[in-house]
Amino acid sequence: MCKLVTTKEILKKAQEGKYAVPAFNIHNLETIRVVVETAAEMKSPVIIAGTPGTIKYAGGEYLVAILEAASKKHNIPIALHLDHFEDVEEIKKYIDEGFTSAMIDASKKSYEENIKTVKEVVDYAHERGVVVEAELGKLGGQEDDLVVDEKDAMYTNPDQAKEFVEKTGIDSLAVAIGTAHGLYKGEPKLDYDRLKEIRKEVEVPLVLHGASDVPEESVKNTIELGICKVNIATDLKIPFAKAVKEYFKENPDANDPRKYMTPGKEAMKEIVVAKIKMCGSENRA
Ligand code: 13P
Repeated sequence: MCKLVTTKEILKKAQEGKYAVPAFNIHNLETIRVVVETAAEMKSPVIIAGTPGTIKYAGGEYLVAILEAASKKHNIPIALHLDHFEDVEEIKKYIDEGFTSAMIDASKKSYEENIKTVKEVVDYAHERGVVVEAELGKLGGQEDDLVVDEKDAMYTNPDQAKEFVEKTGIDSLAVAIGTAHGLYKGEPKLDYDRLKEIRKEVEVPLVLHGASDVPEESVKNTIELGICKVNIATDLKIPFAKAVKEYFKENPDANDPRKYMTPGKEAMKEIVVAKIKMCGSENRA
């Protein structure tokens, strides 16, 4: 491999092969390397995702350069994806910088406005060989700066999903079927019947957001019912932070990032391995 690919390429194969590909939210060089190197060891395609906050923090051009270097080094398909972007102009800027996939999240807007906004991004992206994911319905919980109160969460309507995909021309659809961003208070109750209905109505790959803290069997069920992209953020952040905190507890005078980051990376690697196995994307590169 030597070029970043689009999520369309990755997800089309996943859809045909009836498995999913994890999209891991990264934050810096350390987390990118853990994800990419683990995916390469397991011969799994992988999607590297960054929220607006992360991309501001790490720098879009730096991220593109790092991931281009990674895709030259490792013989697996890697896509670089903008996650939950609400600002159309920002998306255009990062597409121009080299991101290969973008999620426009206009789910807070009215249905008509959502379609209009998504269509604008699709037109811009497709002209440049970039692909687009959008969300219909609204996930609860918190993803970085995006906070949706549980009472404002809304499930995806299958009939509307069909029309939404047709009118916008999106390449993948994020569905709201009971998952939420972040940790859950109880066990999440997923609406599998709704997912089945959406799958019947819609041909593009379906995306599960908020997959952290969801029992593995439940995620596997959604993959069987047509989910092709599984988004994971929180489940990576918590063990990384926990391991670094423990390291500092044992080594209060530590100050070498190469040393105190290492246990975090090791803890994160275990989760990446488990999520790739859960998605069934091992040996699919
Ligand atoms: P979690 O933080 O719940 O894993 O959600 C990740 C996500 O959906 C990113 O878009």
